[in-house]
Amino acid sequence: MIHLHEEASRCLLCENAPCSAACPKADPARAIRAIRFGNVNLARQWLDDVTPDELEAAEKACIHYDRPVRIKEIAKALPLPPMVDRLPSLAIKFCGIPCESPFFLASSAVSTNYEMVSAAFEAGWAGVYFKTICLQEIKEVSPRFDALHVKGTGDIYSFRNMEQLSEHTPQEDFSIIQRLKKNYPKKVVIASIMGKDEKEWTVLARRAEDAGADAVELNFSCPQMRHAGMGSDVGQNPELVLFYTACVKQAVDIPVIPKMTPNITNMSQPAMASFFGGADGISAINTIKSATMAPRAEVDGHRCISGLSGRAVKPIALRFILEIANSLDINRSERFGRSVDLSGIGGIENWRDALEFIQLGCRNVQVCTAVMQYGNRIIEDLKLGLQHYMADRGISRLDDLVGEQLPSFIPVSDMDRETIVFPKFDLDACIGCGRCYISCRDGGHQAIRLDENRRPSLDGSKCVGCHLCRLVCPVAAIDAAKRIPLSSLKRR
Ligand SMILES: Cc1cc2nc3c(=O)[nH]c(=O)nc-3n(C[C@H](O)[C@H](O)[C@H](O)COP(=O)(O)O)c2cc1C
Ligand code: SF4
Ligand code: SF4
Repeated sequence: MIHLHEEASRCLLCENAPCSAACPKADPARAIRAIRFGNVNLARQWLDDVTPDELEAAEKACIHYDRPVRIKEIAKALPLPPMVDRLPSLAIKFCGIPCESPFFLASSAVSTNYEMVSAAFEAGWAGVYFKTICLQEIKEVSPRFDALHVKGTGDIYSFRNMEQLSEHTPQEDFSIIQRLKKNYPKKVVIASIMGKDEKEWTVLARRAEDAGADAVELNFSCPQMRHAGMGSDVGQNPELVLFYTACVKQAVDIPVIPKMTPNITNMSQPAMASFFGGADGISAINTIKSATMAPRAEVDGHRCISGLSGRAVKPIALRFILEIANSLDINRSERFGRSVDLSGIGGIENWRDALEFIQLGCRNVQVCTAVMQYGNRIIEDLKLGLQHYMADRGISRLDDLVGEQLPSFIPVSDMDRETIVFPKFDLDACIGCGRCYISCRDGGHQAIRLDENRRPSLDGSKCVGCHLCRLVCPVAAIDAAKRIPLSSLKRR
């Protein structure tokens, strides 16, 4: 039997995919993308009514360098898509701005000129945080990126960049913003700006407003500015955050959204400072300071510390969002007299990632690295997946998901330590690889035995219920048993 996700992960996600070109009545490449981006349940719609001959032709046309992706097998294994009469709208207000969905391009390499942003809008993105505009001359290094890959699939799981801000003049960028707003009045265009002092912040914010930007994002967070006192130097200093936020607030009427740096121990301090400076929204996170050693990323024999993004940073970004949401009590605006809206960034690739940020209180999410890697087309699966999730739960307003998981986080001291959940082995699904045994033996509590048929069994007297075995099983053959009180175990 085919492993759908494993086979789909072999697909190279080709541009103008030869498999789909060979099979005009269906779109196997689109079906595979749905599997890759969290929508396995929806994938079959792109392979409906296709004949075995057409599937054969698609598979033959596959240009995979090793062997063709098994499109026929994938088609056979796909579940029937759910029947849904009408998909809910993803419309949501962010800082008072009506947005057709929460999905925005982040200020970065994906939002640097008119053509890129207009293509993203056409593809379905609801808005953009345009590449950060400043008054300094920006000169970039070459190469400017490095990446860590998932071996085998080539997917990038973390991405390091040394890029700074927009290389255009402010005049050029503000006229792009003006054109975007004129040609796409329903899309949201947010100008990301960075000044070096009060005057620069004020001037840039006013020019953004004059150009028709819907809001300004204050970049307090670029970790690799070559000019001191800018970027994350500001974000690490709550007094400066408060001061510059207040300056911009006084200068413009459009919403002001400071962007936080994760290169700090306690983000709540600058977040609170920006709130008291008058921020309407807060974005988090920018990239995390990091180092990689690959010679391919050296700049003339040298390296520097710079920002990490992509899949690997998501848990860190979620933690910061959670801390901001809790310190500003965003579920209960009465505490501070007014509310602030959160925009979540960091490692979002599919709708489940986005949902996690929304459930922790974000009304808006931004994507950079996933678009750099896979292109604007990921918006299709982001939107579809979230809409189907809402339909499945009978939710008609995205608002209802915002912050719904905040109460599930409690202080570590309040966690239940009186119960245990043992792992449960599905011996029909088990292939006898022994990975659970190895991990439990060398990294756990020596609680798994392998029998002569290589099948695992549990020694309940040693198992502490850590679930390492469940996490390493390559075929998901380990589940959780019922939670039971520790007091019911004789040994304890
Ligand atoms: C190549 C590159 C350029 C970036 N440029 C900017 C920028 O100009 N302004 C900014 O606020 N953030 C910038 N960022 C940070 C992103 O907006 C985003 O906060 C970060 O990459 C995390 O999101 P991700 O994991 O979806 O990439 C940049 C990121 C990358 C990878
Ligand atoms: S041609 Fe092969 S590798 Fe390319 S998109 Fe189609 S299935 Fe994937
Ligand atoms: S890791 Fe999973 S598949 Fe491998 S032996 Fe353990 S239960 Fe079986």
